[in-house]
Amino acid sequence: MLAVIGGSGLGSLRGEVRALEMETIEAIRTPYGGPVQVDICRLKNVRIAFLPRHAAGDRVPAHKVNYKANIWALQSLGVDRIIATNTVGGISEDLPPGAMAIPEQLIDYTWGRESSYFDGADQEPRHIDFTWPYDLSLREALRDAAARVEKPIKFGGVYGVLQGPRLETAAEILRLRRDGCDMVGMTSMPEAVLARELEIPYACLALSVNWAAGLGDGVIDMKDIKRVHGFGTVELIGIIEALIESEALK
Ligand code: HPA
Repeated sequence: MLAVIGGSGLGSLRGEVRALEMETIEAIRTPYGGPVQVDICRLKNVRIAFLPRHAAGDRVPAHKVNYKANIWALQSLGVDRIIATNTVGGISEDLPPGAMAIPEQLIDYTWGRESSYFDGADQEPRHIDFTWPYDLSLREALRDAAARVEKPIKFGGVYGVLQGPRLETAAEILRLRRDGCDMVGMTSMPEAVLARELEIPYACLALSVNWAAGLGDGVIDMKDIKRVHGFGTVELIGIIEALIESEALK
């Protein structure tokens, strides 16, 4: 089963996706906490799981999300592919507010987050391969889905994952740009690595909602972000729908 993890502002697919049928709402307890709420839905006869990363009403900020419980809960439901949606700030010129990307790489600047299933006192640490953090065939499926709904999308780029919850300073963004980051967000790690540890292919669909700090005019205004978010989320859902429809044809 395919899972979609909804980023901020995307707390549910109910009401967002035409022809979506709800099956159940699961509340899953995990060894890492919970319950984790996951909606099981059906679209065009394809069953999907939907997990709102920040819980209903965006209550949980990025640095407090229980990523281990979330990914474990999805695996316990038999999820074998994950599409994560993430809002980001654009650093490279081709990612103005409203643009989207399917990043190829990430750099992890977060700290203090629980980021491995293999770090218990009685466990052997594992050093998994993470050369390519996002799954290529899922990325290609997203690219093809975006093409079908005629949404231009950046196929590639580097996602710099920051701790938050504050936004960055202008100097931090210049440093990220020197490091090669094209976009900045707060949620792709440790989500991506936990999925890799559980061997679940994972890809990210990123929506730029603002120019990163110091790159736009003046300060970053939440009102502007909310506006971009509104229409961006509709497009994001269109791409996910197209992806699910292509699954229905398989
Ligand atoms: N920085 C970090 N995370 C973000 C941003 C940003 O500018 N915009 C949306 N998420």
